[in-house]
Amino acid sequence: MKTHKLPNDAPYSDNQRAWLGGFFAGLHSQLVQNSSNAQTARTIHILYGSQTGTAESVARDCVKVAKAHGLNPVIKSMDEVDADALTKMETLLIVTSTYGEGEMPDNAQVLWSAVQADSMVKLENLQFAILSLGDTSYDLFCQAGIDWDNSLAELGATRLHTRVDCDVEYEEHAEEWMHAVIPALVGSDATTAIVSEDSDDKSQYNRKNPFPAKLLVNRLLTADNSSKETRHYEISIAGSGLSYEAGDVLCVVPTNCPDLVANILKELNFFGTDPEDKLLNQFEIKTPSKELLQEIALRSGNQELNNALNDKDALSKYLWGRDILDLLRQNPNLEFTLSEFFGLLKPLQHRAYSISSSGKANSEAVHLTVASVRYNAFERSHKGVCSTFLADLTGETTEIRCFFTPNKVFRVPDNNDLPIIMVGPGTGIAPFRAFLQERQFRGAKGKNWLFFGDRNAETDFIYRDELEQMGKSGLLTRLDLAFSRDQEEKIYVQDKMREHGAELFAWLGQGGYFFVCGDAYRMAKDVDKALHDVIATHGNKTEQQAIDYVNQLKKDKRYVRDVY
Ligand SMILES: Cc1cc2nc3c(=O)[nH]c(=O)nc-3n(C[C@H](O)[C@H](O)[C@H](O)COP(=O)(O)OP(=O)(O)OC[C@H]3O[C@@H](n4cnc5c(N)ncnc54)[C@H](O)[C@@H]3O)c2cc1C
Ligand SMILES: NC(=O)c1ccc[n+]([C@@H]2O[C@H](COP(=O)([O-])OP(=O)(O)OC[C@H]3O[C@@H](n4cnc5c(N)ncnc54)[C@H](OP(=O)(O)O)[C@@H]3O)[C@@H](O)[C@H]2O)c1
Ligand SMILES: Cc1cc2nc3c(=O)[nH]c(=O)nc-3n(C[C@H](O)[C@H](O)[C@H](O)COP(=O)(O)O)c2cc1C
Repeated sequence: MKTHKLPNDAPYSDNQRAWLGGFFAGLHSQLVQNSSNAQTARTIHILYGSQTGTAESVARDCVKVAKAHGLNPVIKSMDEVDADALTKMETLLIVTSTYGEGEMPDNAQVLWSAVQADSMVKLENLQFAILSLGDTSYDLFCQAGIDWDNSLAELGATRLHTRVDCDVEYEEHAEEWMHAVIPALVGSDATTAIVSEDSDDKSQYNRKNPFPAKLLVNRLLTADNSSKETRHYEISIAGSGLSYEAGDVLCVVPTNCPDLVANILKELNFFGTDPEDKLLNQFEIKTPSKELLQEIALRSGNQELNNALNDKDALSKYLWGRDILDLLRQNPNLEFTLSEFFGLLKPLQHRAYSISSSGKANSEAVHLTVASVRYNAFERSHKGVCSTFLADLTGETTEIRCFFTPNKVFRVPDNNDLPIIMVGPGTGIAPFRAFLQERQFRGAKGKNWLFFGDRNAETDFIYRDELEQMGKSGLLTRLDLAFSRDQEEKIYVQDKMREHGAELFAWLGQGGYFFVCGDAYRMAKDVDKALHDVIATHGNKTEQQAIDYVNQLKKDKRYVRDVY
């Protein structure tokens, strides 16, 4: 008899795993019956809006639950459907993340714009439910999900279930949502959900169970006299059974800085190894949660903070560079009990890093390219939690708890003959080093063009030797450099794109892929603008035609971004 069991890494609690598993024997025949009725099974559409794969992964879990309930789930990325397709759907589940500043993830933008058009027809026959993934540390928490929820309702569609907005610890809420929404569609309850053993690409190592990897290399890439500190890491995954693709992301679970922990304990008069251990490993102790800010504002009566809490821009300004220790010192004599204080902290989160090696060329190690966050503010030095956790590591015995996140759309094209254009200033170069290694490994003949830049050529031209070697060997067809601080006027990668716009447009015309990695808030927006301009100018197109051209590139997954 075929066994059905929950995958070990699926985001289910132990209890749920136990009782779902326990129902297997009695319900197996019912499942067989369900699957033989596949032709008559009710179709449900599952759409995901996802930048780095989390929402996609949750959507895939929905598929398994839906199948286990005898439904016929049809899963698609939002860029695989158009607005007209929505009018033909009867039941729709949307799982979406939020990106940028309360914006849709890239793969949802075209569909979202189409649904906003005046010409959009009503969706009165549609029933829907929304699960949104986000992070409460952003001002516009789960805004993409909120927007879909409001918009579909305004178009006359009916909610099957109240929208659920998930913070970074999304697993349990997502699970509850799908087990509430999906069984109701077949009039059953959650107990009939037996999730099949469909093989998928989820690893046994994840956020809750990271792999303890060993550090092999920690090397400074920028010069000693640079205004920045960017480092190259090599991390061993030998013996883990793990593998990765160029374009994937490695998530690192950091430990907080012991000095910062000691200072916070001292400021609050807390003692003992238990609070120390919790502050080291369990809580975010640099960036304050909104709850902690509100509590400090309330207890201290600090006017500036109270005013800032009512104004998004003022709050960002107030918080820039200011961490929890600064807040405690600037608002002294606040008394918290241990449990009160811990209750106001967010759980310590992993940080994501774009992998800078090809998994084919380096099967036993992962390379990262990380800018260490270090700055002075409020008369003390500050350190980014994870980038300096890594930077300060030495020795092969050091453990780095990590797990992979696949980024299925950010991939070297299967077709080795097509050109690729890569725009990656600063640490944005990371995945492109991986892409170039991958193209070399495959013996790909397609042309490769890299736009790179940073502050100063003398100190910040990271991987210079490798890139020059790749140029000499012919692997790197073009390398265009933009060093922003070597002259009076800033020169950025988008200036280089415009300068070589005719050739860039020609490469796109040859079926070229356009990849962008690095800063999301300024660089990626300006590069997007430059891309539209290049297409309009050199393709002789109107503004709208250039937008349509770019949208088609997005739909074809030939314009993809890994931005942060
Ligand atoms: C998909 C993805 C891929 C990524 N890939 C990479 C990568 O390849 N390489 C890389 O380096 N990073 C990458 N990042 C960013 C990375 O995840 C971390 O955000 C980054 O390392 C900072 O984390 P931290 O824990 O060191 O800093 P945190 O403890 O999170 O502190 C960062 C905060 O410090 C404050 N801050 C920072 N600089 C200053 C300053 N000069 N003055 C005042 N305040 C300041 C800001 O409030 C900022 O939000 C990626 C992110 C994502 C989402
Ligand atoms: N939130 C912020 O204000 C801020 C600032 C810097 C970095 N970061 C973050 O720090 C991390 C590491 O940064 P990084 O080392 O990858 O690179 P980076 O510090 O973002 O800079 C790399 C290069 O990009 C340039 N740049 C700045 N604005 C640009 C724009 N609008 N368009 C194109 N290029 C632009 C920089 O020039 P100049 O610096 O000379 O302008 C520099 O030459 C990332 O997580 C990034 O998001 C955040
Ligand atoms: C650059 C960046 C911007 C983000 N902006 C928001 C935001 O404005 N609001 C929010 O709630 N979450 C925001 N998030 C958090 C993501 O929505 C969250 O991590 C989500 O789980 C990612 O899912 P995905 O991998 O499917 O894209 C942002 C994350 C990143 C890296």
